[in-house]
Amino acid sequence: MESQKKREGFSSGLAVFFATLSSAVGLGNIWKFPYLIGSNGGGAFLLLYLVCILFVGLPIMISEFYIGRKTRKNVIGAITELKGSTGWKSIGVLGIFAAYLILFFYSSVAGWVYSYVFKALKGDFKAVNADTVKIVFSNTTIGPMPPILWQIVVIAVVSIIIILGVEKGIERVTKTLMPLLFALIIICDIRAITLPGASDGFKFLFNVDFSKLTKDAVLVALGLSFFKLSLGMGTMVTYSSYFTEDNNLIKTSFKVALSDTLVSLLAGIAIFPAVFSFGMQPEAGPGLLFMTIPLVFSQIPFGSFLLVAFFLLSSIAATTAMMSMLEVPIAYYTEEKGITRKKAVIINAIIIGVVGILATLSADSHSLFGNIKVFGKGFFDLFDYISSNILMPLGGLLIALFVGYKNSKRDVQLQLSNKGILNNVAIINIYYFILRYITPLLLLIIFLSSTGIVKF
Ligand code: TRP
Repeated sequence: MESQKKREGFSSGLAVFFATLSSAVGLGNIWKFPYLIGSNGGGAFLLLYLVCILFVGLPIMISEFYIGRKTRKNVIGAITELKGSTGWKSIGVLGIFAAYLILFFYSSVAGWVYSYVFKALKGDFKAVNADTVKIVFSNTTIGPMPPILWQIVVIAVVSIIIILGVEKGIERVTKTLMPLLFALIIICDIRAITLPGASDGFKFLFNVDFSKLTKDAVLVALGLSFFKLSLGMGTMVTYSSYFTEDNNLIKTSFKVALSDTLVSLLAGIAIFPAVFSFGMQPEAGPGLLFMTIPLVFSQIPFGSFLLVAFFLLSSIAATTAMMSMLEVPIAYYTEEKGITRKKAVIINAIIIGVVGILATLSADSHSLFGNIKVFGKGFFDLFDYISSNILMPLGGLLIALFVGYKNSKRDVQLQLSNKGILNNVAIINIYYFILRYITPLLLLIIFLSSTGIVKF
């Protein structure tokens, strides 16, 4: 019987750290966060973001760790064990649903990133200009065949790692790739800070300007603080179900949140000095990653090498984040339905591939399905909107309420102090207070504003 086999897990504290960080570090660190810091008041926004991490990100992360490590089960099994088959199970159901939706479109973008590593290696960006980078990007996304094939490659890579299992797959891969990601980003940083005119990029990122901290900036920072850390959809419940028994959960959450922020800053340092030194305007999103970066990097000495490094590190970020999304349904199917890991991954890969193609073929208005609209959105945008704006904030809110009000404080204390071995009563009390009285309120605000129910 599947359930009687010894459950897999990470082998050390270091493995726990790299695996968890590899989920948090994703495309968000590269095309979203650095730009948001720069355009919302630099250092001032960074401070605000850290405050949001304290009041939203960390409390939810610690709560997910509590659920996962206490029960050592997949997200639906875990909630059922804690509260039986009640409505709270919907946390798990919504989480798995959100994981699928993100996988559908994230695999598409990851495919573009993979194809850019290949293009950079071939030297396709050697002589690009502002017009030709646009053409390269449209060819990459509109396809139809190349983006579909790259998406299949991505899904295959992620699936193979997940089939290998928690220790031989997730642990081994993240322990190798996370240090490599750091090394690559630092190489890009060294080149960037030695460019003439680099200081404007630093000013953009770090200049402390409190006047730019508008109410929109606050909403952005709040949403980011938990999207960034892969919260609200069962990912951290699932990963923490593999944590070692002696791991200090609160410490791990701080280390992961700070390292993730550091990766975003290092990415910003790799990008913006170069952008400014060519007199270009910074922007966010796919345009920054797929057009501005190839354009600027192609003009600096050692740029072709740097482009390969940059897209390689972006592929690592995208791949390891996707692994942690796929593990959510896989843990569920293997544990609750008794399907073997290999079979569960193959079935899921096919589902993700088939539905994911809908996202790929609707990513651009010129794509094959570019003008099919559901609720006024193409499939790509719809999957993104439902998962990021509705399911994740809702999942986060439910998790805060579930752990804050539906579990005994004693159980939470026992788990977070490793049954009293750690001497951390004070910090647990602070966490518990924030979780009950502050986090749900802030998550409600995020949810109401991101769904457009209330305009703040
Ligand atoms: N944290 C990821 C990023 O910043 C995005 C993300 C959100 C995610 N939810 C997730 C990644 C769940 C893995 C699992 O890019």
